[in-house]
Amino acid sequence: MDSLVFITLALCSLSSILFIESIHIQTSFSVDLIHRDSPMSPFHNPSTSQQDLIKKATFRSTSRLSRFSLSLLSNESPESIILPNNGDYLMRIFIGTPPIEKFVIADTGSDLTWVQCSPCVNCFPQNTPFYDSTKSSTFSNIQCDSQSCTLLPKAQQLCGKSNECFYSYHYGDRSFSIGELGFDLISFGSSNSTLHGGANSATNVNITFPKSIFGCGYYNIFTSDKSGKASGLVGLGAGPLSLISQLGDSIGRKFSYCLVPFASNSTSKLRFGNEAIIMGEGVVSTPLIIKTSQPTFYYVNLEGVTVGQKIFHTGQTDGNIIIDSGTTLTYLEPPIFDDFIISVKEAIGIEQVEDSSSPFSYCFTYQPDINFPHITLHFTGANVTLEPKNMLLLYESNLLCLAVVSSNIEGVSILGNVAQIDFQVEYDLGGKKLSFVPSDCAKN
Ligand SMILES: *[C@@H]1O[C@H](CO)[C@@H](O)[C@H](O)[C@H]1NC(C)=O
Ligand SMILES: *[C@@H]1O[C@H](CO)[C@@H](O)[C@H](O)[C@H]1NC(C)=O
Ligand SMILES: *[C@@H]1O[C@H](CO)[C@@H](O)[C@H](O)[C@H]1NC(C)=O
Ligand SMILES: *[C@@H]1O[C@H](CO)[C@@H](O)[C@H](O)[C@H]1NC(C)=O
Repeated sequence: MDSLVFITLALCSLSSILFIESIHIQTSFSVDLIHRDSPMSPFHNPSTSQQDLIKKATFRSTSRLSRFSLSLLSNESPESIILPNNGDYLMRIFIGTPPIEKFVIADTGSDLTWVQCSPCVNCFPQNTPFYDSTKSSTFSNIQCDSQSCTLLPKAQQLCGKSNECFYSYHYGDRSFSIGELGFDLISFGSSNSTLHGGANSATNVNITFPKSIFGCGYYNIFTSDKSGKASGLVGLGAGPLSLISQLGDSIGRKFSYCLVPFASNSTSKLRFGNEAIIMGEGVVSTPLIIKTSQPTFYYVNLEGVTVGQKIFHTGQTDGNIIIDSGTTLTYLEPPIFDDFIISVKEAIGIEQVEDSSSPFSYCFTYQPDINFPHITLHFTGANVTLEPKNMLLLYESNLLCLAVVSSNIEGVSILGNVAQIDFQVEYDLGGKKLSFVPSDCAKN
């Protein structure tokens, strides 16, 4: 075939595909993702040093790992909701009519969107009023026998005296949350580009979802860190109750994020629908594997890792690492981690500083001429090359630590958010693929 004709045909069919997609995807918007410790966060404490923030983040990360592990390893207590102070990125939502502003954790590791509610039997402290369904003209109950209630996992579903649909989540560490499932209007205020100097690609829209299912938590007991002041979370997981599943075809079942470095003055972005699609040079994609565990984590398959000149293979094919935006560090399961750490230590070649109190496996004294090796993660069909900023954290004033540690649990690996800094990461649930492209997230 004449190549020009071929290209023209190819372009025509491509544009018709795009056309079909664009009429299919009705909603496209972006919101700011605010690191909980960044200057833009309502919980920002300017007196806390950068090192202390990193310490806190690593401890949160460890407790998140143990929750993920509990939910993966224990059959009887599958946990779908993660502590609201147990994630790194916040987003602003408005709930009810009149709209009440909430800063909640944006969580790819859980499904149900929920907030602490009044009348509260037991709640952890938050610095904004609790949501009160009796004061919202758009709230409606969900009945126990309704289709929406059956979306809850069986073991977590309870019926109230008046047939209300209750959820009950218990965690392995005796934390729990009990509340009611309801419908209300959830909206995302405009992301305001002038407000957050540097961010220039925000869409100024007030997107409203009239009948969103969410959890109203009346009885919330958390045994671990209570210092976080987020008042709930938005579930970005793949389960039927997550925001992503509820928005469904209206956003083409696609979202993406771009996370700025830890100390940046810009906000990260979370995008939905057409805006979430990443394309062009350098985009790589790998199958997105959604296992039917509870909660439904996002998995990809790590086939191997190159460190400097050395490559090693995991020999695994069926989805061996959870990709998560709320976990700070990257955790590798023991056999993979052992290969990885040997190669990294060998390539960097700086003597390890022992510190038994640190959660890290390898820390060394900062020196200006570090020979940091090229590290490439080989996912099935997608090679992702990481920069030093994706791998190293400044832990003490002159101590650099590797942001990759052992999970110590076979079968549990998590790709955390430090490793994803300055990448656009697109989750395409319909196409079952995860795409990456390196990006300056302060600009994009
Ligand atoms: C968004 O728009 C809806 C409908 O126009 C309005 O009721 C709501 O108050 C708006 N929300 C915000 C946060 O501006
Ligand atoms: C952006 O934020 C400023 C300050 O809060 C406000 O005055 C302005 O109206 C906002 N612009 C948009 C487009 O929302
Ligand atoms: C962030 O803003 C502060 C104060 O405006 C400034 O001193 C600092 O250099 C900025 N940091 C970055 C990474 O741009
Ligand atoms: C990824 O890198 C490996 C090792 O360098 C190479 O063999 C493979 O072809 C690359 N795969 C892709 C999809 O680029």
